Amino acid sequence: MPITAIIGSQWGDEGKGKITDYLAERAKVVSRSQGGNNAGHTVIVDDKTYKLHLLPSGILRSDVLSLIGNGVVIDPEVLLNELKQLGTKRGELMISERAHIIMPYHKLLDGAEESSRGTATVGTTGRGIGPCYGDKVLRFGIRVGDLIEPQILKEKIEANVERSNAMLKYYTKNAELESEEIFEEAKKWGEALKDMIGDTSLILKNKIDEGNEILLEGAQGVHIDLDYGTYPYTTSSNPTTAGLALGSGISPLEIKNVVGVVKAYLTRVGSGPFPGELDNEEAEMIREKGNEYGTTTGRPRRCGWLDLVMLKLSQRICGFTSLAVTKLDVLAGMEEVKICVAYETPDGRIEEMPASINRIENCTPIYEVFEGWPDMNKEEWKEAIENDSLPEQLETYLKFISEYMGTRIGIISLGPERNETIIR
Ligand code: GDP
Ligand code: IMO
Ligand code: MG
Repeated sequence: MPITAIIGSQWGDEGKGKITDYLAERAKVVSRSQGGNNAGHTVIVDDKTYKLHLLPSGILRSDVLSLIGNGVVIDPEVLLNELKQLGTKRGELMISERAHIIMPYHKLLDGAEESSRGTATVGTTGRGIGPCYGDKVLRFGIRVGDLIEPQILKEKIEANVERSNAMLKYYTKNAELESEEIFEEAKKWGEALKDMIGDTSLILKNKIDEGNEILLEGAQGVHIDLDYGTYPYTTSSNPTTAGLALGSGISPLEIKNVVGVVKAYLTRVGSGPFPGELDNEEAEMIREKGNEYGTTTGRPRRCGWLDLVMLKLSQRICGFTSLAVTKLDVLAGMEEVKICVAYETPDGRIEEMPASINRIENCTPIYEVFEGWPDMNKEEWKEAIENDSLPEQLETYLKFISEYMGTRIGIISLGPERNETIIR
C-alpha cells in the first residue's frame, strides 16, 4: 500500500488541508512532518469550517490515526486548545518524543528578532517558529520527551531562560522571564500530553509493514523552504518530499506518490520577492473571491498569476508524481487568465528560478495568455463536477500546466468542500 506525500508547491496556502482531508478517506494514518502552528489548514466538513494549525487534517476522521512527527515544532498551549475545541469528535493522536517544544521565550524572541531587522522583516507569523528551530540546530532545544522527565526539563529550562533573557536584553526587550514559572507550566503540559507521547517513527514503520495507506501532510510550501525558498524570506523548515520523510521518520524510498498541490494562481503572506505581484483590480477580485486572507494571522495575501518557473523548481526538488490543482473556481468568469512561463531579466530571458533575492527582484514574468472560462452557478458547477465535464477553456489551461510540468493532474478542486473535487 502506498505512502503519499502532499506538498505545497508555491508559498503556502495552496489547499493542502482540503486535499489531505479528501485523500484521508482511504488512509489509516496522516502524519505532519514539519512546521508548527505557523500553518493554517482550512477544512470544511458538513458545512462546518475547521481551521487546524498543528493537528494533522486527518484528525477530523475518527478512524484515522494522526501523528505529529519529529520534525514539527509544538506549542503545547495551541495543541491542547485545538484538541479541546474538537472534543471527542476526532481520531487518535500520537506525538513524537523527538519533536521540539516552542517555549514562551521563542515567541518573544521571534518578535524581537523581527523588530531588529528594521525594514527587512521576514513577516513571520510571530509564533516562535524560527527561534525554536534555531535552538534545535544549536542543540539547546527542549523536546516533547523532556516534558515527562522533570529533572532534565528543569535544568534545560533554567539554562535556556538565562540565555533567552540575555538575548532579549540585547534586543532591548526587558522581559525578565522566570524559569520556575515556565517549569511549572511545562510540567503541566507533560501531564496533559503524556499518554500521546511516543516513537511515531516506529508506529509509522509498523503501519507501513501492515500494508496501510498513509498520508504525509505537508505544511507551508516549497518556495518558503529554508533551502530552496526565497531565503531569507522563508520559514525555518523543509516542506519538501525529503523534509517530509525525515520529519516523520521514514525512509524516503517508502514514499510512492508525491502530490504537488498547486493553487490556480499565486498568493504569498509576509515579505519577500514576488515577480509579477498584482496590485490592481484583478488582484482585488482574486483576493475577495478566493478569500485570500491568512488563516493564521488574518493578513491579506499578496496575489499574482500562476508561475510555472517556480513550479519547475518545486518539481525538481520534490519529484511530484501528480498535481492537485485547486481554486480554479476563483478564476472563473475572468476574460483572460495568464501563466508565467519565463522571466525577463537585465541579463536576458531565463527559465530557471534564481537563488539570489536580488536577481528574483529583477525578474519580470513573461506570460502565456489564455481565454478565461465562464462562471456558473452552484448547481451548474455541481453537475460539471459530477460528470467531469469542465469548460473547454479550463481544460486548455490544465493541459498547458500538465504538459509544461510533464506531470499528470490527478485532482481538480473547484470549491472548498469535499464534494467539490474531481479525481482523474
Ligand atoms: P493550506 O494551508 O494549504 O491548507 O491552505 P489554506 O487552508 O490556508 O488556504 C486555502 C483556502 O482555500 C481555504 O480557505 C480552503 O477552504 C479554500 N479552498 C481549498 N480548495 C479550494 C477550492 O478549490 N476552491 C475554493 N474556492 N476554495 C478552496
Ligand atoms: P500553510 O501550512 C503561508 C510564512 C510567513 C512568513 C514566513 C516565515 O498554511 O501553507 P514563520 O512564522 O514560519 O517563521 O514565517 O513564512 N508562512 C506561511 N505562509 N502559509 C503557511 O503555512 C505559512 N507558514 C509560514 O507568513 O512570510
Ligand atoms: Mg494555510
